[in-house]
Amino acid sequence: MSSSTITIVKNPDKKPKPQSKDIAFGKTFTDHMFVMDYQEGKGWHEPRIVPYEPLTLDPAAMIFHYGQTVFEGMKAYRTEDDRILLFRPDQNLKRLNKSSERLSIPPIDEESVMDHLIELIRLEQEWVPDFEGTSLYIRPFIIATEPSLAVAPSKSYKLMVILAPVGPYFKGGLKPVQINVEQQFTRAVKGGTGMAKTAGNYSSAYQAQAKAYGEGLADVLWLDGIEKRYIEEVGSMNIFFKIDGEIVTPALSGSILKGITRMSIIELLKKWEIPVTERKISIEEVYEAHQSGKLEEVFGTGTAAVISPVGQLNWSGQKMDINDGEIGELSQKLYDTITGIQRGHIEDTEDWTIQI
Ligand SMILES: Cc1ncc(COP(=O)(O)O)c(C=O)c1O
Repeated sequence: MSSSTITIVKNPDKKPKPQSKDIAFGKTFTDHMFVMDYQEGKGWHEPRIVPYEPLTLDPAAMIFHYGQTVFEGMKAYRTEDDRILLFRPDQNLKRLNKSSERLSIPPIDEESVMDHLIELIRLEQEWVPDFEGTSLYIRPFIIATEPSLAVAPSKSYKLMVILAPVGPYFKGGLKPVQINVEQQFTRAVKGGTGMAKTAGNYSSAYQAQAKAYGEGLADVLWLDGIEKRYIEEVGSMNIFFKIDGEIVTPALSGSILKGITRMSIIELLKKWEIPVTERKISIEEVYEAHQSGKLEEVFGTGTAAVISPVGQLNWSGQKMDINDGEIGELSQKLYDTITGIQRGHIEDTEDWTIQI
């Protein structure tokens, strides 16, 4: 079977769907999933939609030993007039292939996987919640399945897509968060895997995350791994600073993820003729801007929160309060615009959404 002919096995057992907007992130999954296999010499084959169920894997499957795996995260939104929209899903599949390239995983055919993904969401459309702020989180991922302890790329893989209805990221409005600037641990270095969405980047951040949580802070701001000066990104978000009217975000150096929200925000700012620069920015520069009253806004960007305003940065015992702990005007405007396009109440002049 080619990688474009799909088979569908319907699940006779339907699970109950969430009845309110209080849906914990990533704990409830829909009735079906998408699966496709790869075998060396055969390529990607047998795309199928099957009932959601546990996997059986050999204990020697390479994913368990050397972490050869990549993933993506995107969302389907239900509009007020009951349409279902995806936001720039082509960019997610493109990034999946970029991550795969870094992890020596064979590429997928983006177009046919997009068709299969749409087919899966169509089948599961009743699972796209309609409570305010909710959405259907889409998690494509690839794992190495060859049973072998050799330290080498696997000869077989599984691509799967699972779906999870999720609640609003912010309960009760956009609340600025407090963030710890991490001094001890490093997330990634240039030439490493920081630009890929791969498991090890996340599990290696848990220790720093736990430290921040222990101090009552919401997340970690990573600095570059060599000089511990230049700003990289926050947990699962890219970061932007508004300094004296100019918007600055760290340039893509190879160690940070090329966020799709980041890309969309840069495009919007350019369209609005607001100066935006992708460059190196040090924590000292941010501190000096704060001391001279020029640090106007700070916000993280990502699929989960869209925009997460930062109300305080803690760096080496210095607490930098930003915009009196309130959301900034620009952060709010960007949030309203992107969520408006995603949820279909602002016209999508950029052609970012795809209707299912
Ligand atoms: C490490 C990291 N940085 C940034 C982002 C934001 O990327 P996006 O806007 O594509 O969700 C994510 C989330 O995917 C992430 O995991």
